[in-house]
Amino acid sequence: MPTSPRSLDKLKPHDGIKIAPSILAADFSQLGNEVKGVEIAGADMLHIDIMDGHFVPNLSMGPGIVQSIRKLSNLPFDVHLMLSEPGRYIEPFVEAGADHITIHVESSGDISAIIDLIRESGCSAGITLRPGTPAASIKPFIDKIDLILVMTVEPGFGGQSFMNGQLPKIRALRAMIDASGKPIHLQVDGGIATGTACQVVNAGADVLVAGSSIFKYRNDFPKAIQALREDK
Ligand code: DX5
Ligand code: ZN
Repeated sequence: MPTSPRSLDKLKPHDGIKIAPSILAADFSQLGNEVKGVEIAGADMLHIDIMDGHFVPNLSMGPGIVQSIRKLSNLPFDVHLMLSEPGRYIEPFVEAGADHITIHVESSGDISAIIDLIRESGCSAGITLRPGTPAASIKPFIDKIDLILVMTVEPGFGGQSFMNGQLPKIRALRAMIDASGKPIHLQVDGGIATGTACQVVNAGADVLVAGSSIFKYRNDFPKAIQALREDK
């Protein structure tokens, strides 16, 4: 376990919207360069999607890749675990360099205990929910989380269309956060691009995950990131 705490507290002071490029959409043959590219371009954190082929019908990457890119980047690493049994993998991802770990409320295991494990390891903790899972499922954990992630696509693949039926859930969770009085980030993930970024921000989101809409602009990451930040 690391000796110095890591968490989203490492975020650069930034009053506006935070942008989290999802490396699922990166060119993996150029992964190091792409990670450095989005950092230089002004990304606020790096979103890393971990899939087990069971919780979602796709495989992505493991702790080894996280460890490799950790050497190249000072960005906070925001690790999204799409795993049936996330509790088994907290320690490997902390060791690999995660700063923040988000787990699914639909996962197996004692969700509350897994959140405690993440926080005891020095990382900040998030909880997320599939499009079909109601906002109320988050309520039992509101006192112990640093971030709520609303999935605006069915998790498992990049490049899907934004589900605007999730906007009421974003508004409901924004109200739940405000009522809690706690500094909890409200993140969205899936189909975020210009045109949808403004909708989720207006609904109350403050952290935008974006894969395709950033990595398709390989020659101009700063423009892609700025366009999301300023989408009105
Ligand atoms: C989907 C992942 C997302 C994905 C988003 O399961 O959680 O982070 O990379 O990709 P885009 O931005 O292309 O919808
Ligand atoms: Zn994700």
